[in-house]
Amino acid sequence: MPEPRHSTAVSPTALYTGAVWARHRLSHPAFATTEGRLMYAAGAPAMRLSRALGGPTLEGLLLARHRVIDEQLHAAIKAGTVSQVIEIAAGLSPRGWRFARQYGERIRYIEADLPAMAARKRMLLARVGCADGPHHRVADIDAFAVGGDASLAGIAATLDPGSGTAVITEGLINYFPIAAVGALWQRIANTLNGFPNGLYLSDLHVGGENRDIAVRAFVRLLSVFVRGRVHLHFGAPAEAEAELRAAGFATASLLSPADFADRFRACRDPAARLVRVIGATTAARR
Ligand SMILES: C[S@@+](CC[C@H](N)C(=O)[O-])C[C@H]1O[C@@H](n2cnc3c(N)ncnc32)[C@H](O)[C@@H]1O
Repeated sequence: MPEPRHSTAVSPTALYTGAVWARHRLSHPAFATTEGRLMYAAGAPAMRLSRALGGPTLEGLLLARHRVIDEQLHAAIKAGTVSQVIEIAAGLSPRGWRFARQYGERIRYIEADLPAMAARKRMLLARVGCADGPHHRVADIDAFAVGGDASLAGIAATLDPGSGTAVITEGLINYFPIAAVGALWQRIANTLNGFPNGLYLSDLHVGGENRDIAVRAFVRLLSVFVRGRVHLHFGAPAEAEAELRAAGFATASLLSPADFADRFRACRDPAARLVRVIGATTAARR
């Protein structure tokens, strides 16, 4: 299990992403905190320069992964295979708020994060009129806990075992070493195997696709910011797919957001080639 101190050091990154989602009108303006806006402003000149030189932008990367995860989740809900969602490390992401507004009583959406971030999200949601309810709530979790109420298994036990369920991790996996990630994927597959249909969605930066010197420099900078290493796992997407199947998923694909360029403008950013979206399913049960 990773050191708890490292987990909490990752939390400020959610303030930055919160500002990005709000800036692109994916979110309620209340989810853009003052700290997040300041971080966004500090990074803006570098983003503008990279964009002007035809390079990747962090904003493009975040939006590309977010759009593709959204699209996969919409498709599963519309196909009727998923009606419950646990979003681990939800931070200040607007996805739970948006999906709860769109699907109402047709889904149950649980946004989960470390206690301090969960409390902040609960407070922001209450401020925009979305107090915890049976179809949308915020829960405390430590993604690496192996049991108890604030573990994935503990939260899943509060859901309907007869309904298809999705687990999402966005912006989490690359902050942790491979052993912790492998164990987390096993727990997610195990949990989802308890439902008739299980879907896992996540972003993943594959080491072999992020060898560029500028990317490596950026990863080092981010490592300093989160006071711990940012990890680039796997030499190629096929290795990650094999690891997911070994963890207990029946199918696993690493989608490239760049392939969604005709649908989403953000997926035309060169950064869309630096990130993958995992779509993994457990075997369907009757
Ligand atoms: C980069 S942010 C991503 C937030 C959100 N998913 C998004 O894309 O805007 C990382 C999030 O991971 C959360 N986190 C870090 N360690 C965690 C852990 N052990 N369990 C659950 N969440 C964790 C942080 O609190 C933070 O909200």
